[in-house]
Amino acid sequence: MSLISCRNLKVGYYGKPILSDVNLDINSGEFICIIGDNGSGKSTLIKTMLRLAQPLGGKIVYDSSLKKTSVGYLPQEIKAKSDFPATVFEVVISGCINRLGIRASYNKEERAIAMRYIKTLEIEDIIHKSFRELSGGERQRTLLARALCSSEKVLFLDEPFNALDIHVTNHLYHTLAKINSEYGVTIVMISHDVETALKHVNKVVYVDGTVKFVGTPCEYKKLGGQNNELAN
Ligand SMILES: Nc1ncnc2c1ncn2[C@@H]1O[C@H](COP(=O)(O)OP(=O)(O)O)[C@@H](O)[C@H]1O
Ligand SMILES: [Mg+2]
Repeated sequence: MSLISCRNLKVGYYGKPILSDVNLDINSGEFICIIGDNGSGKSTLIKTMLRLAQPLGGKIVYDSSLKKTSVGYLPQEIKAKSDFPATVFEVVISGCINRLGIRASYNKEERAIAMRYIKTLEIEDIIHKSFRELSGGERQRTLLARALCSSEKVLFLDEPFNALDIHVTNHLYHTLAKINSEYGVTIVMISHDVETALKHVNKVVYVDGTVKFVGTPCEYKKLGGQNNELAN
């Protein structure tokens, strides 16, 4: 089932397209990695799918089951200051903010959701720590748990492993694979570390002016072997 469908989509800024004729389906259960050169429009494409940027043309069709509370997003750059005086638990549960409605505080169910992802990301031991005291890996795990609280169905991650070492990265990839297979959360991520991403995802989308390739990592590797443009 297609959750998000881009049809002849054109994305860019101030009328100037970066990607055109984008035809792409985000299907339920997929673990997708979008790859492409720096500045090729990967972040702009997912921001447009998230309705944070206006499409310049074409359209995006959303499945009727998608609600505000079912799509999570971890942006490439977190605007919140790293000295933000909140505990890990407070940061994680703030991912449930869209569920609050007119209530002023989180209920039992939302606390349980936060605890579920705190366990998944293995940060139980640090929930009372201040966010600013955390290491890079702990911070990223906390932000992932937060994004998961707001993603019953789809999770968008923009270069989530930047500045993390390969061990932490591999561990987080395994966690994402578990979230994808066990909780059925569809994951759309961007990574410039193509080699590592290909080991973990089940669909690759390569962009360069438009969507140049969609297929499995295996198909991508085969094609990359024949076509240097795709291998880069
Ligand atoms: N808010 C913005 N306003 C205008 N141009 C932007 C904005 N954000 C990004 N760009 C430009 O759009 C192009 C694509 O950027 P981006 O989507 O961030 O690429 P990628 O994520 O693939 O590195 C770049 O040339 C970038 O400078
Ligand atoms: Mg980007």
